[in-house]
Amino acid sequence: MDNLTVIVLAAGGGTRMKSKTMKVLHPVCGRSMIGHVLAAVQAMEPQRVVAVVGHQREQVSAHILQLMPDVVLAVQEKQEGTGHAVRVAMESVDVGSGTVIVAAGDTPLLEGESLRAFAQEHEAAQRAVSILSGVVPDPFGYGRVLRTPEGDVEAIVEEKDATDEQREIREISSGILAFDAAFLAEALPKIGNDNAKGEYYLTDTVQLARDAGLTVGAHAIDDVRQTEGANDRAQLAELGKELNRRIVTRWMRDGVSVMDPATTWIDADVALSEDVTILPGTQLLGATVVGEDAVIGPDTTLKDCEIGAGARVVRAHGELAVIGERASVGPFSYLRPGTQLGVEGKIGTFVETKNARIGDRAKVPHLSYVGDAEIGEGANIGAGTIFANYDGVQKHRTTVGRHAKTGSNNTFVAPVTIGDGAGTGGGTVVRRNVPPGALAVSGGPQRNLPGWAQRSRPGTAQAEAAESARWDTGPEVGQGPSGGEES
Ligand code: UD1
Ligand code: CA
Repeated sequence: MDNLTVIVLAAGGGTRMKSKTMKVLHPVCGRSMIGHVLAAVQAMEPQRVVAVVGHQREQVSAHILQLMPDVVLAVQEKQEGTGHAVRVAMESVDVGSGTVIVAAGDTPLLEGESLRAFAQEHEAAQRAVSILSGVVPDPFGYGRVLRTPEGDVEAIVEEKDATDEQREIREISSGILAFDAAFLAEALPKIGNDNAKGEYYLTDTVQLARDAGLTVGAHAIDDVRQTEGANDRAQLAELGKELNRRIVTRWMRDGVSVMDPATTWIDADVALSEDVTILPGTQLLGATVVGEDAVIGPDTTLKDCEIGAGARVVRAHGELAVIGERASVGPFSYLRPGTQLGVEGKIGTFVETKNARIGDRAKVPHLSYVGDAEIGEGANIGAGTIFANYDGVQKHRTTVGRHAKTGSNNTFVAPVTIGDGAGTGGGTVVRRNVPPGALAVSGGPQRNLPGWAQRSRPGTAQAEAAESARWDTGPEVGQGPSGGEES
């Protein structure tokens, strides 16, 4: 397209959302509504994009600029209708000749391909105005497309201005229109506001073009949901469900197995690879990326995570975490930002991690908190270990060396370093560095006080059991030096 201008209308209040957040900023499938529209617009590679803002314009402008830094923002101080909004937009840029597309900011299912096909047909037919229309079962609220008995488009009449007979018409204007730029510039000042709403209707341009003997036409879109807007939260949820269904279906066509599409939620910007399997109750959000053959779920939420090929993530909640190839996570793991797990590593059951680099083949299998830590490759952290990273004022780091094996129920009081190949006994509180290869034990040797139960709890079941016990276990020594678990 030679000289394409797109105007996105986003000045209206969206009062039916009943929200302190502007309508077009409400999220659906990982983007704001207007974010979806801008993505579709961007796909057409237009020469310029103008966004018309009004209500809560600081918030809306900042958001739009973030998504599209080279956008032109036009401010419509008072919302006097779509015709007025487009006039404000046209006054803020030098469009010249070419094509102008007008779209609304609240149609999250809109696709770039549809806009492109619409614009191409408009240009090929050399029309002054084209309407992206649709035939819907319930046309209430929409502008109706009026046609002559020969089928030529005559005008668009708005719901409130329509006769009962006109209200029967099921071909509606989606609100997306294409214009010859020169015609639009001439027509805008001629639009009046003598109508039921007292607004300047952009749709009046159709009649104006007809009156001037110019060509007008409508391009009916089969997939009308693409042009549907959400006015309240119930409609937004409906559109969100439909958009999710489309995204999930697309991934299945691209080689992803989804056991239960109805309980699988995938945001628009997620990237998956072939032979990924997603089990029920899984949400893949934000910019999450999943590598080949990985299996995610059931009951897992991952936001902005990177999951390596062949990894397995079961019943986990993760944000900004990077999981290595063939690594294993869960069940019941909480991966907080800055978690990095190496190749074939393990973050196991009831384990919380944060700002933690866990090396290749290193394992934290059970019931642990790992915060602000560096764990070397092949290390094994015993069950129930707490990386005590916070002294009440500051956070500190713990380093565990390569192939270190630490005992169960340890506390590592940061800052502290456990050297390569070192070990710790069960229940150790590590407050001082452990040199490579050393075994750290704390708490002193165990003392047994013989006959304690019989003496201090006479007559109880406990004392009875002690009294009648056969005891041929031998020396008072436990099994291994460290009491560590490796399973
Ligand atoms: C509009 C169309 C109608 C179409 C329908 C599709 C007109 C007159 N009517 O009606 O034919 O069937 O969309 O949804 O165009 N806006 C501004 N500034 C304004 C007024 C509106 O930016 O002064 C924006 C709104 O924020 C919204 C869009 O324009 O994004 C459409 O406005 P809205 O008031 O919702 O128009 P409808 O009555 O739905
Ligand atoms: Ca509307």
